Amino acid sequence: MSLLELNGVKVHFPIRKGVFVDRTVGYVYAVDGVSLSVEAGQTYGLVGESGCGKTTLGRAVLRLNDITEGEVVFDGTDLASLPDEEMRRYRRRLQMVFQDPLGSLNPRQNIESILSEGMAAHGIGADQDERRERIKEILAKVGLPSGSLSRYPHEFSGGQRQRIGIARALVLEPDVIICDEPVSALDVSIQAQVINLLEDVQESMGLTYVVIAHDLAVVRHISDVIGVMYLGSLVEEAPSDLLYAEPRHPYTRALMSAVPVPDPEVEDSRERILLSGDLPSPASPPSGCRFHTRCPWRQDTLCATDRPELRDVGGGHRVACHYAAEIADGRIRRADESVPATPPGPPSGADAQPAAAEDAGDASEAADEGPAERRPEPATSE
Ligand SMILES: Nc1ncnc2c1ncn2[C@@H]1O[C@H](COP(=O)(O)OP(=O)(O)O)[C@@H](O)[C@H]1O
Ligand code: SF4
Ligand SMILES: [Mg+2]
Repeated sequence: MSLLELNGVKVHFPIRKGVFVDRTVGYVYAVDGVSLSVEAGQTYGLVGESGCGKTTLGRAVLRLNDITEGEVVFDGTDLASLPDEEMRRYRRRLQMVFQDPLGSLNPRQNIESILSEGMAAHGIGADQDERRERIKEILAKVGLPSGSLSRYPHEFSGGQRQRIGIARALVLEPDVIICDEPVSALDVSIQAQVINLLEDVQESMGLTYVVIAHDLAVVRHISDVIGVMYLGSLVEEAPSDLLYAEPRHPYTRALMSAVPVPDPEVEDSRERILLSGDLPSPASPPSGCRFHTRCPWRQDTLCATDRPELRDVGGGHRVACHYAAEIADGRIRRADESVPATPPGPPSGADAQPAAAEDAGDASEAADEGPAERRPEPATSE
């Protein structure tokens, strides 16, 4: 069994209105049915643009947000259904590192006080002397001098403050750390150092991570598995290398096409997929496939009406797109893609039902000949 398993997790925030009587007039569907597993000792990278529900999902795992529906099974126990009292016993084992290290550290507490607070609350260390010794060990591990103990958060640089945030989680000897955009607030030059530190301590302390980022480049090297979120649900999940080698969901392809490539030749010829429009509001998510209002591959059938399930397409690669197979083999092309030089064949009149996976064999032929190809309607601006 995986160390952490999410089954159909939903977090819906009620939207309340009314001056005298509080009425619920709708919901923000921040997280809307996420199932995933994180193996012990591994790193699960969760990516998606701002507002897609990553932080809400991370907080739900720690029960910092109420879970509307679904299970969060940690080490065999469903945390979502635990009474608060019993949840307290699990709190120490699941920690979070926040995006904004300064905002999450009390400016009036020195480092010793910040780090020992949680230890004392969880009964770690017989007395303050013992806690101080442990804190010194952890500070050395995260690359901060032991003289830091009596200093205050504002005396440190951004990168150092994030090291303090990491140390605060480590002193509690957790099993799982959810790192929410751990380097987004840091200079690019410092980001790699903090990512490397996270990797080092993972190895030496046997930690399991969920690393949240809006940027695919950040999670690439640290993650064993990556999940891509869009409007409250996963649209694709795969082992990290596979996701980069063969992104299958249109949204992932678009995200990936925005990541610069170090090789200048590849970079020049790199295809860029531009998404039209903004992220729709999670208070009124689009029908059918939630990505259909922005998808360059959108089809007239299914996309706007049926919500695609996350389906395994082989090798632990899961994709939520009705047309993943046809897009992969070129039978369906992007609305804005330049048409190949060979003239297209006569229209086939074939309907756009997704073809069976076995049909995927003759991909290049189908793409060149064009008869089976069905060009989507140009996207209208919704
Ligand atoms: N406490 C809350 N009450 C109402 N809406 C919220 C609350 N927290 C987050 N949201 C909304 O839920 C959606 C997802 O937010 P969030 O999880 O912070 O996304 P991300 O971390 O991916 O940027 C956003 O539309 C956000 O405004
Ligand atoms: S189901 Fe349709 S709209 Fe959704 S990603 Fe696939 S092609 Fe695009
Ligand atoms: Mg966030």
